[in-house]
Amino acid sequence: MIKEIILSGIQPTGKLHIGNYLGALKNFVALQDQHECYFFIADYHSITENYEPNTKPQQVMELATDFLAAGLNPKKCTIFVQSHVAEHTELAWIFNCVTPISYLERMTQYKDKANQQQKNINVGLFDYPVLQAADILMYRVTAVPVGQDQDQHVELTRQIARFFNNRFGQTFTEPKTIHTDTPKVMSLLTPEKKMSKSLGDNHCLYIDDEPKVIAAKLAKAVTDTGDGQGLGARNLLDLIKIFSDDKTYKRFQAEKNSGTLKYSELKEILAQDIADYFADFRKRKKQISQKEVEKTLADGAKKAQAIAQKTMAEVRIKIGIR
Ligand code: ADP
Ligand code: TRP
Repeated sequence: MIKEIILSGIQPTGKLHIGNYLGALKNFVALQDQHECYFFIADYHSITENYEPNTKPQQVMELATDFLAAGLNPKKCTIFVQSHVAEHTELAWIFNCVTPISYLERMTQYKDKANQQQKNINVGLFDYPVLQAADILMYRVTAVPVGQDQDQHVELTRQIARFFNNRFGQTFTEPKTIHTDTPKVMSLLTPEKKMSKSLGDNHCLYIDDEPKVIAAKLAKAVTDTGDGQGLGARNLLDLIKIFSDDKTYKRFQAEKNSGTLKYSELKEILAQDIADYFADFRKRKKQISQKEVEKTLADGAKKAQAIAQKTMAEVRIKIGIR
């Protein structure tokens, strides 16, 4: 087996939903056993959105707690906060100077978010993928586990590595993307769109939702959108495949094919199985102390910064800034 250097980040913008979990976090936990892994909280990315400054420290702590409760182990991987390693923003500036504006103009996430926050289309929102490239290339990463929506950013990261290497000499390696089997979980209410916090709470199942809340949200989930494709039904069956046993999945699939599927029954079983799946997570989350989280993040920042400083020393020499 080739030992990869793996890195991924999640923004501290509220609770994690099952899309974040199935598309990213679940994979992080599996990867930490066999590879050199870095997982971080992308707080500087998160300030490109509208936000309330006094809620940010709490959101960072909550996401770090989620990392630990989901099974990330600081003995096996490095967990840190982006802003604790100031080298990330320094490298982003340098990458700004090799990245053509036209490449950023193509980013679909930028276009979507600019549309969502028309009164706050700030330069940071536009430049966001360059900071992401700095996060990744800083650690000579070989693979980035993310959901499908991040593919374009990882592709741009490879291009930025090439732009830099061509201009200043071979320095950065190009990482690949790693997906799970579920790189795109769809919204419960608008299943043609990906599940996302920005759509609203009823579109998402949060991984620490209590069983009653899960059941109530699933009860309202759309099964037939009249699109002729049955996207809502497909999404629910995909979730049954992950969270329920094989026999249950096969039964519902057969019933769907023969037109006898009762969605109310499927939803009840799915609600129970999702609640059970995350029962340990909910329990652990309540047990993790603030002190434990703070120590994890302080140790992680130290380890990450030692590498970041080395990268920056080499980069500064290459670009002629001494
Ligand atoms: P959101 O879109 O809800 O704000 P983030 O941008 O914080 O989520 O995403 C964190 C991680 O979760 C990224 O790796 C992203 O690709 C993944 N992810 C987000 N939404 C989904 C989804 N619906 N299905 C699969 N993966 C997702
Ligand atoms: N842009 C990612 C998201 O919204 C978060 C992120 C920031 C990231 N830096 C990263 C993901 C580096 C992977 C690698 O989900």
